[in-house]
Amino acid sequence: SLPTHVTLVDVGPRDGLQNEKELVSTADKASLVTRLQDAGLKEIEVTSFVSPKWVPQMADNTAVMAAIERRPGVRHSVLVPNMKGLEGALPTRPDEVVVFAAASEAFSQKNINCSIEESIERFAPVVAAAHEAGLKVRGALSCAVGCPYQGEVSADEVERVVRLLKAIGVDHLGVADTIGVGTPRQVQAAMARALKHYPLVEVSGHFHDTYGQALTNIYACLEMGIHTFDASVAGLGGCPYAKGATGNVATEDVVFMLNGLGIETGIDLDRLVDAGAFIADVLGRPPASRVARAVLAK
Ligand code: HMG
Ligand code: MG
Repeated sequence: SLPTHVTLVDVGPRDGLQNEKELVSTADKASLVTRLQDAGLKEIEVTSFVSPKWVPQMADNTAVMAAIERRPGVRHSVLVPNMKGLEGALPTRPDEVVVFAAASEAFSQKNINCSIEESIERFAPVVAAAHEAGLKVRGALSCAVGCPYQGEVSADEVERVVRLLKAIGVDHLGVADTIGVGTPRQVQAAMARALKHYPLVEVSGHFHDTYGQALTNIYACLEMGIHTFDASVAGLGGCPYAKGATGNVATEDVVFMLNGLGIETGIDLDRLVDAGAFIADVLGRPPASRVARAVLAK
C-alpha cells in the first residue's frame, strides 16, 4: 500500500531560481519563501552557498537567509559544495545543509569542477562541521539515472556513490534525476540501491520533468514506500550545468496527484498556486505547472 503521508521539500527558491538569467531580487526570493510557508510547506531549500562566479543568481545567499521569515516547524536548507560554502552558510542559521555529489564522473567535473572521489574528500569535513553545529546533512546524488555528458548511468554507479556518502556520515540521501530522463523501473532500480544503505525515511526523490516522467517516477517511488520528494513551485528550475534540462516537477502537480490518492501533505493547493503565480509573474511567464495553469484558467 502507498504511504499515507508525504513530505514535500520545495526547492523552488534554490533549484528553481538558480538557472534564471535575470537576477530575481532578494525581496522577491524572500517573499516566495513566505508564500510557500503560507501554503503549508514545512521544508524549503532557500539558496546555495556556491561560487557566485559559477551561479550568479545565488550570490545574495546571505541576504536571502536574513530576509526570510522563520516560522516554527519550518526547516530551511541551503546547498554547500565545500568548507567555504559551509562557513558562509553557518552564520545564516540554516536548519539543514545539502552537499551534492554526482553518480557520473563527467557531471561531477562540469558541476563542481572535481572528480567524485575528490568531492567526497571535500564533503567529509563539511559533514563533520555541520554535525558539530547540530545540523542535519542531506546528500543530493545527481545524475542517478542519466547524465547529460555520459548518457545512461547504472544502478552500480549509483550505489558506489551512495556508499561513499554514507561513509562520510551524510544523514539523508536524495536520489536525483537531474535531466529528467528516467522512467519508473530505472528509477526504482536506483532507489533500491539507496535503500540498501539508508532507511526509507532518509531517502527522497528529486525529479526534473524534462521528458514528462516525473509524476510517474514519483508514483513508482510511492509504491516502494518512499515518502519524501523535492519539487519546485511553478515547475521552476534547471541546472546551469545540465543543458536543456527543464525544471523540477511542479509542487502543485505533485500535491494534486497526492490529494487524489488521499495522501496527506499538509499543503493547501490554492495557496500553493498563488505562490507559483507570484513567482511566475516576477519571471514574466506562466507557471510550468499544468495544475496551476488549469486552476488559474478557471
Ligand atoms: P572551483 O573554481 O574549482 O573552486 O569551483 P576553487 O576552490 O578553485 O575557488 C575558485 C573561486 O571560487 C575562489 O575565488 C573561491 O574563493 C571561490 P577567487 O579566489 O577566484 O575570487 N569559492 C567560493 N565562493 C563562494 N562560495 C563558495 C566558494 N567556493 C569557492 N562555496 C566550486 C568549485 C564547487 C566552488 C564551483 O564549481 C561551484 O560553486 N559549483 C556550484 C555549481 C552549482 O551550484 N550547481 C547547481 C547546484 S547542483 C544541482 O542543481 C543539482 C541538484 O538540484 C540535484 C539534481 O537535480 O541533480 C542538487
Ligand atoms: Mg535539481
